[in-house]
Amino acid sequence: MANVVEALPPIEEQFNPNSQAYLENPIPQCLALARRAPIVWYEPWQAWIVTRMPDILECWHKEPLSSDFYDWEFAPTRPPEDQWSNFERAMIGHSLLSDPEHHRLIRKVVSPAFSRNVVDAIQAKIEPEVKRLFDTLGKPEIFDYKEMISNHIPFISITRMVGIPEKYWSDIKHVITTFTETWNPTISDQRRETARQNCNKAIDIIKEVIEERRRAPEQDDFLSTLLNIEKDNEKFVEGDIITLILALIGAGADTTLVAQQWAVYALLKNDRGQIAKALASPDTFSNAFSEINRWGVSSKMGFARYAPSAMQFMGQQLRKGVMVLMMPHLKDHDPDYYDNPGDFDVERVFSPDVMFGYGPRYCIGAALAKRQLFLTMTELFNRFPNVELAEEPERDIEDHNAIVFKRLLLKTNCL
Ligand code: HEM
Repeated sequence: MANVVEALPPIEEQFNPNSQAYLENPIPQCLALARRAPIVWYEPWQAWIVTRMPDILECWHKEPLSSDFYDWEFAPTRPPEDQWSNFERAMIGHSLLSDPEHHRLIRKVVSPAFSRNVVDAIQAKIEPEVKRLFDTLGKPEIFDYKEMISNHIPFISITRMVGIPEKYWSDIKHVITTFTETWNPTISDQRRETARQNCNKAIDIIKEVIEERRRAPEQDDFLSTLLNIEKDNEKFVEGDIITLILALIGAGADTTLVAQQWAVYALLKNDRGQIAKALASPDTFSNAFSEINRWGVSSKMGFARYAPSAMQFMGQQLRKGVMVLMMPHLKDHDPDYYDNPGDFDVERVFSPDVMFGYGPRYCIGAALAKRQLFLTMTELFNRFPNVELAEEPERDIEDHNAIVFKRLLLKTNCL
């Protein structure tokens, strides 16, 4: 590493995702990092960063590194099994994130629950809720899209999809936004511990819901599907169901919150002709969504992996437990990767499209996320065809994982 970076300024002077400069415009920092080397040591996070797509794809595909947060050198010690709380039981015992063999089994048995038919059925449940949200909004002159719409969508979708009855909603709601913090390596131990406690409370609620569902007749939701899968597969047990529901909440809430904001911002900030092209059908929107994500560059840290043992990796000696971050977003405005990267073009061709990852851990909720966003954007632009940004939104430095806005004021122009 010393040979590669000798002539360059220290990395932290070129790249700091927690800085105001990154918040305002991450592109120069992303390009500077990607140009340094294929793998770069980042002292502030005690992590290696993999900067280029061929290596990231290989890593996603072959999984030489661990996805288990507890393999991180600075993770809290794995407690002995007789001291596990529900959280450890869900995150260690049956984790989607850990043992690759068990991971593959879970992906295989749950894949029917994410088929196109199921997504269609879930859409039918979410659509009236989205309409109700817009009905409640009415026709204001100006409104904050975050407060009135986007903050509610992930919660509505996931509780409806999983089948968590409304009487539990107020108790479980706060955990949706903190769950991913339980394994975020870049935040304080105290913040992670609070998230862990929240998570334990949520697990208690999920267990209650499961018990209730076991007693009640089958319903048309994800939980009922999982309980059926449990009946037919002795290796798929209640812990897996809890882990999976937590994973859906965790992986599906933060991501869609961010995506909602950037979708609105990108569509309103660019040539309005793009809106109709993007919303022509769920398929055109699927591509548009990747362009929104590329153009917006909202990611701060990418995807974490951990060295399962001391090992050689991309020409570097990794110590056991060291974090390795894959940062596919570094390419997003690189002119060597995309033609005219500053242009927003919802028909841009992505090959491969890695917005939802790649390989064995490809996002399980990709179809649902796209459909959810398509529904909401369609509703927004149908109700307010002349909607525009009321101001340039201020970015929020507090978010632990992504560039987001403090508020997103929209002017409806509908009066
Ligand atoms: C805009 C929305 C979303 C984006 C951009 C996104 C992106 C991703 C990416 C890139 C990965 C791979 C992560 C890695 O390799 O470490 C992933 C995994 C995952 N996503 Fe999503 N996701 C989104 C929404 C959702 C939703 C709505 C759900 C659930 C309903 C979901 C569930 C999951 C799960 C469970 C995994 C882990 C899969 C595994 O390890 O096998 N995601 N997502």
